[in-house]
Amino acid sequence: MKIYYRVFYTLLVVSLLASCNKQPVKSTTDAKADSVLALMTLREKIGQLTLYTSDWDVTGPTMRKGYQTDIKNGDVGAIFNAIGAAYTRQLQQLAVENTRLKIPLLFGYDVIHGHRTIFPIPLAESCSWDLDMMQRSARIAAEEATAEGLHWTFAPMVDIARDPRWGRVMEGAGEDTYLGSKIAAARVKGFQGDDLSAVNTMLACVKHFAAYGAAQAGRDYHTVDMSDRVLRETYLPPYKAALDAGAATVMTSFNEIHGEPASGSHYLLTDILRKEWGFDGFVVTDYTSIMEMLYHGVVADTAAAAAMAINAGVDMDMQAGFFQDKLEQLVKAGKVSEARINEAAKRIIKLKFDLGLFDDPYKYCDTTREKTVVMNEKFLAEAKENAKRSIVLLKNENNILPLNKNTKTLAVIGPMANTRKDLIGAWSAAGDWKKAITLLEGIQQTVSPATKISFAKGSPIDADSTQYLAEAIAKAKQADAIVLAVGEASWMSGEAASRTSIQLPAIQRKLMEEIAKLNKPTVLVVMNGRPLDLSFEDKHFKAILETWFLGTQAGPAIAEVLFGDYNPSGKLTMTFPRSIGQIPIYYSMKNTGRPYESDPGNKYVSKYLDESNYPLYPFGHGLSYTTFAYTQVKLDKTSITSTDSIQVSCTVTNTGTRQGEEIVQLYVRDLVGSVTRPIKELKGFTKLDLKPGESREVTFQIKPADLRFYRKDMRFDYEAGEFEVYIGTNANTTNKAKFNLSVAE
Ligand code: BGC
Repeated sequence: MKIYYRVFYTLLVVSLLASCNKQPVKSTTDAKADSVLALMTLREKIGQLTLYTSDWDVTGPTMRKGYQTDIKNGDVGAIFNAIGAAYTRQLQQLAVENTRLKIPLLFGYDVIHGHRTIFPIPLAESCSWDLDMMQRSARIAAEEATAEGLHWTFAPMVDIARDPRWGRVMEGAGEDTYLGSKIAAARVKGFQGDDLSAVNTMLACVKHFAAYGAAQAGRDYHTVDMSDRVLRETYLPPYKAALDAGAATVMTSFNEIHGEPASGSHYLLTDILRKEWGFDGFVVTDYTSIMEMLYHGVVADTAAAAAMAINAGVDMDMQAGFFQDKLEQLVKAGKVSEARINEAAKRIIKLKFDLGLFDDPYKYCDTTREKTVVMNEKFLAEAKENAKRSIVLLKNENNILPLNKNTKTLAVIGPMANTRKDLIGAWSAAGDWKKAITLLEGIQQTVSPATKISFAKGSPIDADSTQYLAEAIAKAKQADAIVLAVGEASWMSGEAASRTSIQLPAIQRKLMEEIAKLNKPTVLVVMNGRPLDLSFEDKHFKAILETWFLGTQAGPAIAEVLFGDYNPSGKLTMTFPRSIGQIPIYYSMKNTGRPYESDPGNKYVSKYLDESNYPLYPFGHGLSYTTFAYTQVKLDKTSITSTDSIQVSCTVTNTGTRQGEEIVQLYVRDLVGSVTRPIKELKGFTKLDLKPGESREVTFQIKPADLRFYRKDMRFDYEAGEFEVYIGTNANTTNKAKFNLSVAE
């Protein structure tokens, strides 16, 4: 090992000296990567471009024989799905002790919403609108993951998603580009910290590039087809925001776009990512997506697929094995340049240097750190805090909530009331559901010791059986108040979990119907991974709490909200439709030439015969146990020029009797554009914490740059004209003022 390092550090000094006379000066790790590259054979370089999954056996992880040989031969540069300080050390040893150049492996994993301490699913967490908190949960995930030997998370997923049929909406930050971009940046900062070489930081991987969330009909892996304007204006900004925050890697998406699979799109991976955005990390494909180009029907054989991907700008092949099999011969045949291979290999090696793996390949394989860091008390406490803040109070007529801790008899009913398995949700890869605390347990810990709690399952989640119903009705009849917990099983959202119905399963409806008939104070707790059609539930219940899948600390977090220890403050980041027929439905739609509001009595306006145009719960909706009043929006001026900015303000008062937090939202509408503009666009938000009777003035500043969009000529710029500006409690707000922007031509 020593001899090897001497060789390349000599080269390093030489190259650093050489660079003294040149501009720009390379970063140290950049120069180090060059020095290693100079020692490598073509085959060794291609090895760095290959990523394989580790195999997991029933009894624990084992590497398939073939992969071990690949590692020993230097034919693989990175491994995913291998976790644990001891196991990653074992694999690292195979690479470092057997390969000629001793280049360490990179270990990746899906660390999506926590690693061992599981946080709320990302869609839930986004409803907190709390960027610092989201940064902290990513930080904790990185602390735990790096203590288990990992260097690289396949997160954040920043795909804008507007179709709740798509199961992967649970993994992102919802429908809005502005909020999604802020959250993308926060999550990247959390994972990567300020210094990649620190032992508790890891590489982020922004995914899935690009527009995976726009799969037609909400069916996973399906075609994406959209204009370049929509792509750039709505879908691309969160990826860009993640890269601006320093995301080191990018993952391609499974979908096609503009008629090309994303993993073979030169337009996405080179023209936009490299040339327009100047990204200098590496691009990995999604799982086997180079192979899938054969099914997409854009290449006829494996060699053509490998060539298309690498020439488009892919640097690392996840799991297809096509780079490993085909690149050497493609270079020899002149179909792929060695310069392209060098570029890709260098990007990967540079990040290995940035992580400090060349100084100590076993740096992240510390079993002592693993024991003390993973699932420690501080992390669990933060997970509970996070879970409370992710809950959205959808409805609370007659102030049924909060429930009284001294309720004499409380019936806790429903298939989600005592489920443990489902609480951590999909994409909780290393999470152990057995460690999650159920709602029933959370309630038991929270209510007064004198409260009598009865529990009945009431129905299965999805199976067609009424065997539990009678017991539930009997117990509910005895109770003074009822908590009825319903929802989706965790497997009903996530990857490959699209649904054509977004209602709760029929068997749960039956249970809800029976419980509602009792006319008792009932709180409906809904656990799920996507916006649901809750029209039926809305009709039958006065109080509804959207709790998503909240992770390890779900039970206590929900209980604290149910009994008023925490006053809910979350706001929806995806619109909840009234029926599946309204999809796609999102707040920032266009006005159309026949807007319903222009003439509601007219048949020939944009509407449905059998359903309202409006959602059941709009984007930004979420109630509190207190109430807030907003004064009329005020502007410091009504007219600005390109060099000005405008102050938009309003006073918010807590008009109720409890302290509470309110997420105040700023929206803008550009009334006339060279192309049509959305009826509202989120441009800012802030979270206030107000005591009863307390008022606070909120002021937002809008600059002309905030009003930019892709104009008719596709220039990203603002245009002169009139704008409406709104401040309110959700996207339905009508609290507005108008200003004018003039632009010197
Ligand atoms: C998913 C990715 C994930 C990868 C590796 C794919 O099926 O689409 O999001 O990172 O698997 O597990």
